[in-house]
Amino acid sequence: MRTKPKKVMVIGACGLLGTPTAAVFGRDPAIDVEAVDLPEMDITSAELVRASFDAFRPDLVVNCAAYTAVDDCEENEQLACSVNGTGAGIVASAAEAGGARMIHISTDYVFEGNASEPYSEDHPTAPPARLSAYGRSKLLGEQQVRKNHPAALIVRTAWLYGPDGPGFPAAILRRARDGGELRVVNDQTGSPTYAPDLAAALYKLGHHDVSGIIHVTNSGRCTWYSFALEILRLAGLDVPVRSVSTAEFPRPAKRPAFSVLDTRRYAQLVGQPLRTWHDAVAAYIADHTSATKR
Ligand SMILES: NC(=O)c1ccc[n+]([C@@H]2O[C@H](COP(=O)([O-])OP(=O)(O)OC[C@H]3O[C@@H](n4cnc5c(N)ncnc54)[C@H](OP(=O)(O)O)[C@@H]3O)[C@@H](O)[C@H]2O)c1
Repeated sequence: MRTKPKKVMVIGACGLLGTPTAAVFGRDPAIDVEAVDLPEMDITSAELVRASFDAFRPDLVVNCAAYTAVDDCEENEQLACSVNGTGAGIVASAAEAGGARMIHISTDYVFEGNASEPYSEDHPTAPPARLSAYGRSKLLGEQQVRKNHPAALIVRTAWLYGPDGPGFPAAILRRARDGGELRVVNDQTGSPTYAPDLAAALYKLGHHDVSGIIHVTNSGRCTWYSFALEILRLAGLDVPVRSVSTAEFPRPAKRPAFSVLDTRRYAQLVGQPLRTWHDAVAAYIADHTSATKR
């Protein structure tokens, strides 16, 4: 069913995804957007969340707020669960109480990553003990959101990068230009997803009265190594890249080896999938190159 939001609250609006999400809703003259983030909006505080909802009275809330430092979550699991789990549940309760629809963002890290076919929305999530601390905290968030706001929509995405600030493509370009050695993992497979493309998808989903879980990423798949090669090729940088295994690149948090999400539900709902990751990263490089020339 189609619906038209009039007052949209974007939480975590200064983040990688929150920034383009607030922008895309803000470009619609029929929508009044409230873009909030720390410190004025802390989703771990039920009082602050309730006060913000009472003041703005949104009819749609998009929760992009999260504690996303995946490796740091291993040492700070309590904080991760408080923001990504309890905090998400607090937002869901406030949305439910205020009669607002909710879109909540989740992640491929709720899966263990040992599949060989794309994960569908109804594929069972992994037992918490087999996930990273970040994955456990995000899984808790999904459970809290579903419990407190049964009509909420949970959007799982993966391998996000944005037009500004840190991120995988920016790190690869910086290292290549600095002449640093490039060693990139070649045994993790996923779908790189450009945050402005996901934000545009959230805008479309905000106009559908849908609930449950939906997977949204750019189309296609690659490894981090093949993603790096494509970034360098598009940027015209001829730099050697060494393919390494996850075992050669130890990190505190466990990463899913295979995190491709099946996005057919999204494509059927809105009429088309997101563009391919190749096209998206080409757009990123074009923007990046024109920005550095200006
Ligand atoms: N990045 C990825 O590769 C990826 C992949 C799959 C799914 N996701 C999910 O996508 C969503 C957006 O991620 P992102 O990459 O845009 O993250 P991000 O850049 O870290 O943005 C998250 C925002 O939330 C804010 N925040 C943190 N704690 C908060 C709190 N207690 N109350 C209110 N705001 C708080 C952060 O503020 P500070 O910066 O000041 O902490 C930041 O502005 C998250 O749900 C994440 O789990 C991300």
